[in-house]
Amino acid sequence: MRYEVDFLIIGSGIAGLSFALKVAPYGKVCVLSKADASEGSTKYAQGGIAAVMYDSDSFDNHVKDTLIAGDGICDREVVEMTIREAPDRIKELVQYGVNFDKSREGDRFDLHREGGHSEFRILHHKDNTGAEIERGLLEEVRNHPNIELKEHQFAIDIITQHHLGQRVTKHTPDIECYGVYALNCETQQVDTYLAKVTLLATGGMGNVYTTTTTPIISTGDGVAMVHRARGVLSDLEFVQFHPTSLYNPAEKPAFLITEAMRGAGAILKDSKGNEFMQKYDSRLSLAPRDIVARAIDKEMKLAGVDHLYLDARGIGKNELINGFPTIYAKCLELGINITKDMIPIRPAAHYQCGGIKVDMHGESSIHHLYAAGECSCTGLHGGNRLASNSLLEAVVYAHNAAEHAISKINELSLCKQAPDWDADGMVLNEEMVLITQTKKELQEIMSNYVGIVRSDLRLQRAFDRLNLIFRETEELYNRSVLTEELSELRNLIACAYLITKMAMARRENVGLHYSIDLLRK
Ligand code: FAD
Ligand code: SIN
Repeated sequence: MRYEVDFLIIGSGIAGLSFALKVAPYGKVCVLSKADASEGSTKYAQGGIAAVMYDSDSFDNHVKDTLIAGDGICDREVVEMTIREAPDRIKELVQYGVNFDKSREGDRFDLHREGGHSEFRILHHKDNTGAEIERGLLEEVRNHPNIELKEHQFAIDIITQHHLGQRVTKHTPDIECYGVYALNCETQQVDTYLAKVTLLATGGMGNVYTTTTTPIISTGDGVAMVHRARGVLSDLEFVQFHPTSLYNPAEKPAFLITEAMRGAGAILKDSKGNEFMQKYDSRLSLAPRDIVARAIDKEMKLAGVDHLYLDARGIGKNELINGFPTIYAKCLELGINITKDMIPIRPAAHYQCGGIKVDMHGESSIHHLYAAGECSCTGLHGGNRLASNSLLEAVVYAHNAAEHAISKINELSLCKQAPDWDADGMVLNEEMVLITQTKKELQEIMSNYVGIVRSDLRLQRAFDRLNLIFRETEELYNRSVLTEELSELRNLIACAYLITKMAMARRENVGLHYSIDLLRK
């Protein structure tokens, strides 16, 4: 099938849905989602969204905290812009019907604090903020007459001049995006979506690792598509590991224990129940994530254990049960009463700071192609994202991208000569085990060699092993009928390769990139 729209959006998390609502008055909008529309990292966000809402805090403080967490390599202009826009974007979310918790008097937002923040500035909805944001946005989108939301449609590749038979390299100056090819997961046909403007809002790539807090849809599809289309990517070596995922090895994805719990007074403890963060940072359990995750990793290795503890018992019982109801219930299910027992935790891959390089308008190096949310790299996070700045970045850049796209839309036209997907010569793929086994291998390579602590030797090992599974998988891809699983595997391999390559190229320890062979910048 061929479809023609003005605005095509790949992804229905906070970034994709916010953009859709903004551009909807200006044309026909189509949102594709490879799973159920609500499935994505957004739904699982716990802590909340950072913004300076009152005079007791200041933009300067939020800017300073972001720059410190980013370890000196954030883009200052981007940081200033994002933080100053935050209150307006929060007001819009509230207008869309998103409920943030209020103080007991009901006149102010109740604000939490998380690692790296010098102030209480995290707006939240109990400990399930993301689910509330996703609910509010989805309801608005489903009610909008100009927006068509199509679930279980898997975007495979961006359509560019390459598909018109032209040679495109990373040096081609004016690569253009004409839309995407997408696999309809019900009919198993590949459809052609032509669009004047395309937004990638495909989320993260946590599934490159064995243990991740991100849902199974986080396979780096947008980044891999831009890589194949020869667009510019940046900062992928900065993979953020969240210090406190619940230790429950059989569970995938790993359940998160929000940093807001440390903000409320919970303390990290070693396997013997002793505090240890004083050895690593004066901000103790509330130091930025790169520092805390590395400290936990080191303590686990020193003691030869596979988890440590978070002790939340000092937080009042009422505050724990009412303020963190999701975590309380989840732990209780596993026999852990967090008002009485310490919570077993370990770090897990959580967030990708790098991605598709975009300018302040959210536009990528490929014309008419925008990116927002976790798949993008704006310069806000530098070497390490400050907690709860991700949802914020997604709404700010969805807004900027929408404004820019709206200002251009009347000058643009569809590339109607783009051909349909060519599936000739492919045979059925009957060897699902090849895909599942290769995915496991890939995750183990990345977890063992390209994790929290790296070295030249480990990176080289990863690189060599990735090359082999890349070749094997390309061979499989070239003779197989396209499936979602095979596409995701290809995308994960591309992302793993890019993370490793950029890690090898970074010759100093900065932010989340830490190698035993390098010095600090
Ligand atoms: P997502 O919400 O991940 O959505 C991605 C969308 O893209 C999905 O709809 C998916 O189906 C679609 N998609 C992907 N690939 C394709 C494809 N090939 N074809 C079609 N559709 C595709 N950040 C904060 O700021 N505060 C927090 O408190 C917080 N807590 C978090 C807790 C957890 C457990 C996790 C995992 C992350 C948390 N983060 C938090 C990070 C934040 O939630 C994410 O970075 C953010 O939600 C990403 O939003 P997004 O719109 O970019 O992508
Ligand atoms: C958390 O709630 O700890 C996650 C916050 C984030 O990832 O920004």
